[in-house]
Amino acid sequence: MKHLFSTLLLSIAIISQAQMSDTEIDKKVDSLLSAMTLAEKVGQTNMYNGPWEFTGPVPQDENSQLKADNIKKGYVGGMINVLTAKGTREAQRMAVENSRLGIPLIFGYDVIHGYKTMLPVPIGQASSWDFDGVKKGAQLAARETAASGVHWTFSPMIDVSYDARWGRIMEGAGEDPYLTSVMAKAWIEGYQGDDLSDPLTIAACAKHFAGYAFAEAGRDYNTADVSSQTLYNVILPPFKAAVEAGAATFMNSFNDVSGVPATADDYLQREILKGKWGFEGFMVSDWGSIGEIMTHGVARDSAHAGELAFTAGSDMDMESRIYEFYLADLVGSGTISEDLLDDAVSRILRIKYKLGLFDDPYRYSNESLEKSEVFSAKNKEIAKGIARSSMVLLKNEGALLPLNKTVKSIAVIGQLANSKDVPLGNWRAQAVANSAVSLEEGIRNAVDSKTKVTFAQGYTLTKGRRDFIHELTWVDDQGEGFEEAIEVAKSAEVVVLALGEDCYQTGEGRSQADIGLKGQQLELFLRVMEVNPNVVVVLMNGRPLAIPEVATKAPAILETWFGGSEAGNAIADILFGNYNPSGKLPVSFPHHVGQEPLHYDRKRTGRPVTNEFDNGLVFWSHYTDMTNEALFPFGHGLSYSSFEYDDLNLTPTEDGVMVNVKVSNVSELAGKETVQVYIWDKVASLSQPIKRLVDFKQVSIAAGDSQQITFTLTKEDLGFYTNNYEFVVEDGEFEIMVGTSSRDHIKQSIDLTF
Ligand code: NOJ
Repeated sequence: MKHLFSTLLLSIAIISQAQMSDTEIDKKVDSLLSAMTLAEKVGQTNMYNGPWEFTGPVPQDENSQLKADNIKKGYVGGMINVLTAKGTREAQRMAVENSRLGIPLIFGYDVIHGYKTMLPVPIGQASSWDFDGVKKGAQLAARETAASGVHWTFSPMIDVSYDARWGRIMEGAGEDPYLTSVMAKAWIEGYQGDDLSDPLTIAACAKHFAGYAFAEAGRDYNTADVSSQTLYNVILPPFKAAVEAGAATFMNSFNDVSGVPATADDYLQREILKGKWGFEGFMVSDWGSIGEIMTHGVARDSAHAGELAFTAGSDMDMESRIYEFYLADLVGSGTISEDLLDDAVSRILRIKYKLGLFDDPYRYSNESLEKSEVFSAKNKEIAKGIARSSMVLLKNEGALLPLNKTVKSIAVIGQLANSKDVPLGNWRAQAVANSAVSLEEGIRNAVDSKTKVTFAQGYTLTKGRRDFIHELTWVDDQGEGFEEAIEVAKSAEVVVLALGEDCYQTGEGRSQADIGLKGQQLELFLRVMEVNPNVVVVLMNGRPLAIPEVATKAPAILETWFGGSEAGNAIADILFGNYNPSGKLPVSFPHHVGQEPLHYDRKRTGRPVTNEFDNGLVFWSHYTDMTNEALFPFGHGLSYSSFEYDDLNLTPTEDGVMVNVKVSNVSELAGKETVQVYIWDKVASLSQPIKRLVDFKQVSIAAGDSQQITFTLTKEDLGFYTNNYEFVVEDGEFEIMVGTSSRDHIKQSIDLTF
């Protein structure tokens, strides 16, 4: 009888889901909801970690048995970490074939920068400022993920971050709300495509809502103390953009904002996200974050934590197991209304319908697609292209780069230079350890057969275990390879020296108080420079580094982040001029960690440092031992071409201003430039940043050519949110800056009336 009923319901639901209208989906959700018991409804809000290989037997321990029983009863809505076409098929079968209503599970996974073919880490992707490229990368990740049976990624992370100490800065798009909004849209559109039921697309999850990156002192999970101005104008805009891009789901965050744990924040989740912005998807908690409401000291016990989280709009519980054990009673006792429960369950079911799971719960568990899609040669080629555009040429004195492929000898130095693992980055999903193309391999692949390439390790960064969950152990002594590296450097025509971080220095739980170079790297750099001035520094890192000595002394520096599976080949393409670098920094690099949090879009203050006033006097907003400026500013990135900006013209329009500028490629090489527009609203009712990015365009310009570039800035670009979360645009003088970085631009002022 039970089976008959579920077959009946499924067959009602089966009439092709693809392209079903929202109204049709709503109708189906309503009718399914009316057939559900309280326990089944609560089940949909419950998400389990997948504890065993679903292709084998259920382990005999109590927890696994309980989980398996609940899946079979229909008391589970989603699972995390259940993988592969085969594994997801078996887990799905357990739910669909045993439960009364046969409601399919949704499988989620942290696909942060690729499933098995690794793309550059997100901060690297954002350095491309390339909407189409980033979208293409997300499409690739979606194809591999979906083909492995997974429906949903916990990405993108769109927390704007000012603080290089925070390890998760690597997972986002950097310090700017506008650039992060553009990237959010690219990631979400890439993952989700036009039709979520397409078996090669997946649901996105915009996270962490909200304020997580403002963890005090850059220490992960720390309290976030943010003003209304920061919340409304910096933190929230990318999330609003995510809703506009159609993000299927959101994840909340571990931190509190003004004393309210984000998971229990009614204002953020119900009033703003689901109310003002009209978000129709569902909100999943972060791992265990509902339980952590107690640890924050805001909930008395588990039931209270469940009540607060659910009332505030957290629809699905990731592994706190609180909804599982307490939600039915909370609804039964009237503490939580059944309407609220119905709203959460409808949101979850709606996404399952959109994914086409009621049509065919196994539609993503396709082994032949898994074989052809995952880590395919085609995907690696795409990943290489994205890696190339993510790299930022920070310095190139005397045009040391590009190197000639017929160079007689190259010394490739540094433990990072022959690592096949570090370029894969942290949060690497199913990437196989040591599967990246190393820098050394990339160079060997690129050079002429007569070129002598010699590798020397030079320094050792870490010893022992390196993985996602354990602390790293640093090596501070000079190993045997140190002196050998100096010798190798001495006799080479050019040195390529890899410096930076292990990939497990950034990511969740990886905050650092010191963001310089660990171990013997700086010492080695200085010694190498003494014996050979032709040093190209290749940086691998997931955060801005404080490297003033390297920035001053090295003639050439290429920022490569953690470039993914094809990192070495992509770097070599830039070193030898097969690709003209085009990346721009999405974050400011400081001179010193003491400048953090550092961001270019700062306010002027009542006592700014200006050339007029600061000469020798101390009563200005500054450090007595350090500049206020960045070592490398936001938006900075060189090319092998040279660009010049002239003829800036501003024309007022009905609701803003038209900006025209001439950009010329004054070199003998075609190149790509990212033309950036910043504004300063000079007098406003609330003090405004001295510059903030409002638009940019990427243009390819032939050698010796010029292009007229036009931007149309509207009220939306020129206004800001008040402390009551009202958007206003105020009349007055605006300074408009257009240029190649947040520091290097031409400018003009205009009076605007709206
Ligand atoms: C905790 C992290 O904060 C979140 O970003 C991630 O998606 C979940 N764990 C699941 O792994």
